[in-house]
Amino acid sequence: MFAWGYGFMPLKKTVWIVVLAWGAYACHPNNETKVAPDLKQGEKTYIAYCASCHSKMGEGVIQLKAPALAGLEAAYVYRQMMNFKNGVRGYVAQDTSGQQMAAIAKSISDTVMLYHVATYIDSLPSVPYPLQVAADAQNGKEIYQSICGSCHGATGQGNTKLNAPSLLGAQPWYIASQFQKFKNGWRGSHPSDKFGAQMAAITSLVNDQSVNDIIAYLQAQTPSTK
Ligand code: HEC
Ligand code: HEC
Repeated sequence: MFAWGYGFMPLKKTVWIVVLAWGAYACHPNNETKVAPDLKQGEKTYIAYCASCHSKMGEGVIQLKAPALAGLEAAYVYRQMMNFKNGVRGYVAQDTSGQQMAAIAKSISDTVMLYHVATYIDSLPSVPYPLQVAADAQNGKEIYQSICGSCHGATGQGNTKLNAPSLLGAQPWYIASQFQKFKNGWRGSHPSDKFGAQMAAITSLVNDQSVNDIIAYLQAQTPSTK
């Protein structure tokens, strides 16, 4: 028994090292450089390359199908930029809004700069958006708490450890459109998109009206102010 325990220890250690190394790799928003974030540089790039579609304070522009970015965490924004850039998101022909964003991400080769922009976006305060369709927030709360909350946090604030973004700053139309994209397999089905795949897997559990009900519940939550 002792001998078995002793023999097993080094293996256990190796497993831990692999798990920790993977964790550090997966969680660090910028594996290539590990530079300190530069908010000033990030802001300059944001205003020059992003604000025309996502607006000056990151509130998004519905007419351009450009979502709000304010309220999103740096690690999530950076990962999405790399997904767009590497053809993991926004590569399906019918996904025109995704393709438009992918073209922007591909046009910026400086990934360190993308990290600065992501950090700048993280510093913008999120804004609440009204839902304009009839929905049952109480039903939404129940479904949210039984299905979504385990990953996106008890009240939609997001969970960095699980890589699930905050849903509080997102506009109703955008949540609904992304939910549909995950359901269609336009997002989360690329073999390299392991976090998107987790999200895509649960879409079959919820119908369209329930998505609206969930959105109504999320709208009733106070957005996180940073
Ligand atoms: C030409 C308009 C346009 C410009 C310029 C643009 N975007 Fe986008 N962006 C979009 C659209 C449209 C989407 C929605 C994509 C989708 O539906 O999947 C999007 C989506 C995103 C997302 C995904 C948000 C989420 O919640 O998953 C991020 C992050 C993003 N943009 C960051 C940026 C950054 C950073 C810049 C500047 C470097 C930028 N965008 C410039 C149009 C634009
Ligand atoms: C198993 C964990 C898990 C569950 C359960 C889950 N999600 Fe997600 N969700 C994620 C992850 C991880 C992402 C980020 C995917 C990525 O990085 O592209 C995500 C992304 C999203 C996005 C895209 C956000 C954006 O800014 O583009 C929406 C919308 C969303 N989830 C809504 C929901 C709703 C509504 C529910 C419940 C019906 C739900 N999720 C349940 C893990 C989960």
